Amino acid sequence: MRQWVDKLRKERTLRPEEFRQLLTECDGELLRYINEQAQEVSLRHFGNRIFIRGLIEVSNCCRNNCYYCGIRKGNPNLERYRLTAKSILDCCKQGYELGFRTFVLQGGEDPVLTDERIESIVSAIHRNYPDCAITLSLGEKPCEAYERFFQAGANRYLLRHETYDKSHYRQLHPEGMSCGHRLQCLQDLKEIGYQTGTGIMVGSPGQTVEHLIQDILFIEQFRPEMIGIGPFLPHRNTPFAQSPCGTVEQTILLLSIFRLMHPSALIPATTALATLTPDGRERGILAGANVVMPNLSPQEERKKYNLYNNKASLGAESAEGLRILQQQLENIGYQISFDRGDYKQ
Ligand code: 5AD
Repeated sequence: MRQWVDKLRKERTLRPEEFRQLLTECDGELLRYINEQAQEVSLRHFGNRIFIRGLIEVSNCCRNNCYYCGIRKGNPNLERYRLTAKSILDCCKQGYELGFRTFVLQGGEDPVLTDERIESIVSAIHRNYPDCAITLSLGEKPCEAYERFFQAGANRYLLRHETYDKSHYRQLHPEGMSCGHRLQCLQDLKEIGYQTGTGIMVGSPGQTVEHLIQDILFIEQFRPEMIGIGPFLPHRNTPFAQSPCGTVEQTILLLSIFRLMHPSALIPATTALATLTPDGRERGILAGANVVMPNLSPQEERKKYNLYNNKASLGAESAEGLRILQQQLENIGYQISFDRGDYKQ
């Protein structure tokens, strides 16, 4: 089986049957091997530097009702919030002082956060911090809206496709949402000129190895600049409350597969992975990840942005905890990079 790992590193792709074997028959020893190979590729491309992005969770109001997500419209047991423009700018100010040069505005598809409001917030951040990258993660919007945000100064957009398989997409999302529309949005973002990120949850309910192979092949042909991979974690107020978590092993296996296929991609060690296991961030980095996204949101709102239960938001997950993060990275031989860290081929 090592031969598939070596081939993946060399040729950056495998045949579907080879991916299948890697995904179904990977034991502990092979996992260590692929993680090492992926880490080496990451070190070659980026050195021992990990990019940091300041995550600002701008709203937990959402018009959608995705079955896996804790901030779904149908969850009545959630205190909803929306940051004001001033509060978002305060987060940026704090983040800038801490050394962040990328701000990620993430939120539900909140109808009150109109395109005009988002545009004006992006403009203000761009005006105040012209040396910073602005990443948006605000879901599906009309192409014109994406264009306006881009004109206002946004550089990057994160929109996970969640699953490439149409019927699996149906299992995860209610009527009215479609895989086709999600993919159209991704195409629009790319054509406008955004550095575009996509990705999946590992171990989402109903996910099969065949689905994962389709996701790998879709990402291979789409060539995103950023790839977000985290474990599925159940939330108690969703229809998937009883579903099991994705595993650490499967998550870091996929991280490594993506690193070997996309040597220069920006791949975060996600909060979900750090929530699943205390050493998740380190294990993600040692499997090829090269980005972490500490939380810059106001303290009181962090626990309300609950996509899944027990979200890690303290210590190294928080922007104030940069020193803790720095220490954790040092322990595994890495350092924080304060660069913007734009995608470079
Ligand atoms: N577990 C893990 N990840 C989740 N997301 C949403 N809900 C969950 C969950 N229960 C992920 C989705 C989304 C991103 C912002 O968070 O993949 O795209």
